Formats: sequence, C-alpha cells, structure tokens
Amino acid sequence: MSEQEGAVGRAWDRNADAWTRQVRAGGDLLRERMNRPMFMAFLPDLEGRNVIDLGCGEGSSARMLAEVGARVTGIDLSEGFLAAAAAEEAARPRGIAYRRDSFTSLATCDDASFDAAVSFMALMDGPSFPEAMRATARVLRSGGTLHFSVLHPCFWRRDSRWIAGGEGKILGIVVSNYWSETPYEDRVAFFGQNAGPGERFAVPRFPMRMEDYVCGIAAAGLVITGMSEPRPSEELAREHAIFRRQRDHAPMLLYIAARKP
Ligand SMILES: C[S@@+](CC[C@H](N)C(=O)[O-])C[C@H]1O[C@@H](n2cnc3c(N)ncnc32)[C@H](O)[C@@H]1O
Repeated sequence: MSEQEGAVGRAWDRNADAWTRQVRAGGDLLRERMNRPMFMAFLPDLEGRNVIDLGCGEGSSARMLAEVGARVTGIDLSEGFLAAAAAEEAARPRGIAYRRDSFTSLATCDDASFDAAVSFMALMDGPSFPEAMRATARVLRSGGTLHFSVLHPCFWRRDSRWIAGGEGKILGIVVSNYWSETPYEDRVAFFGQNAGPGERFAVPRFPMRMEDYVCGIAAAGLVITGMSEPRPSEELAREHAIFRRQRDHAPMLLYIAARKP
C-alpha cells in the first residue's frame, strides 16, 4: 500500500465517526432519495453472486448488496470505517466479510475469485484509477461484471459552481480547470444538509476526466457495457433544489458498467 493511500485512509478515519452517524441517520438526501435507488436499479441481478464492494466505507453499500442476496466482501482503506462496518455486522449479521485493502491492488483477493465488483461513490477518491481497474480485472472471473458510481467528472470539479439568477433561480453551472490533475482536499457536507464550515468533511480528491475512466477500463481489458447519467424525476425535482438543478442543467453522478470478457 502506498504512502499516499495510507494518507487517504487516515483522512477518512478522521471522518469516520461523524460520517457513519449521519449516513445511518439517513442524513444524505442525494444518497437516500436518488443515488441509492437509481444505482440499485442500474445493477444486474446479484442474488447468490460473490461480490466485492470496492471502497465499502462504513458498510452501507455492502449492506445494500447483501439485501439483494449477494455474498459480499467489503474492502476499504479506513480502519475507522471498517470498525464501524464490522460492529454493525456483529450486531445484525448479514454474512458480509470486511477487510482492509486498497482497490488499486486488492492484495488480499485471489485471481478470478469474484462474480462481480461494485463500487458506490469511492473510485473517484483513490489515487490511481487505471491500477484499480487492473486489480479489479484480475479478481473478476471471466464474464464477471463491474458496476460503479462516481461524481460526474465533467461537471463536479474543484471549482464548479452553480450560477444563480434573480430570486436565486439556478441558470446553469460553470466548470473550470477540467484538465487539472492536482489532488486536493474537498470540504463536503451531505447534500440537503445546511452544514457550517466546521461541520464539513475533509475528503481527499484525485481529479479524473471522462477519458481517464473510459481509457482506464479499456486498458485493463474490460469492456464497457453500459453507462448512465442519472436524471432526477420531475417529482423529485419539486422536492428539493439539489434535484431541480440536476434535472434542469447537469448530472452530478455517473454510472458505468463493464464486463470481463
Ligand atoms: C465516499 S466514501 C463511500 C463509502 C461507501 N461505498 C458508501 O457508499 O457509503 C469513499 C470510500 O472510499 C475509500 N477509499 C478511498 N481510496 C481507497 C482505496 N484505494 N482502496 C479502498 N478504499 C478506498 C475511503 O476510505 C472511503 O471509505
């Protein structure tokens, strides 16, 4: 595991307690109302499948997969998140195995040992996407699938900002520095929460472009089989401004599906 990955794990450790509390209380509106149901609908039937969750965090994505009948192994860099995930598994067992590993190496995983790899909002948080794809291709059996969600690389960037007109109505989005590859620390709050500056999570980000995702998948010998830029329904857009912006102007999420030949 690289020094940089050690630092990423420690950064997430610092978020682990408050993040776990907020996620489990349903505090992330984007996740609960939009991302979770849409991503689950994007997944193939995983019942009875041996599935690895890449960047499982405190385990909510692994539990979503276990709920649809998958046999799940969750890996993450953060000891704090893994401890929270293991505690929940001990309290309400779902047969999920958690272990510390990096999705750029998957050193704890045998070749061809999984039917599917799934990653929920984690692959944009690690330093080397091409390595992550090579490791994923190695641990998938032939015919195995990969499905992941990330922040949309074309719109969600360090300096992106929504442009508001009269009465606060959102008119569009400005995206700058699309080509920047410099890692940075994002200060994020869950969507739908009115967090002050001190209540934000410090999240290490490794900027990637659309070509990095597509070429990283292709270079690992995986074949892209699907893609989605989830758009909130009109009904959801009426519920909250974060959905209205995405429905009218730009997607914040990107889902990609691929298969090992
Ligand atoms: C936004 S959280 C998402 C967690 C979880 N999938 C969820 O939906 O709640 C991103 C996670 O990616 C993990 N991560 C970042 N780089 C990683 C790497 N190289 N290997 C494994 N996990 C990594 C972080 O520790 C963090 O738990």
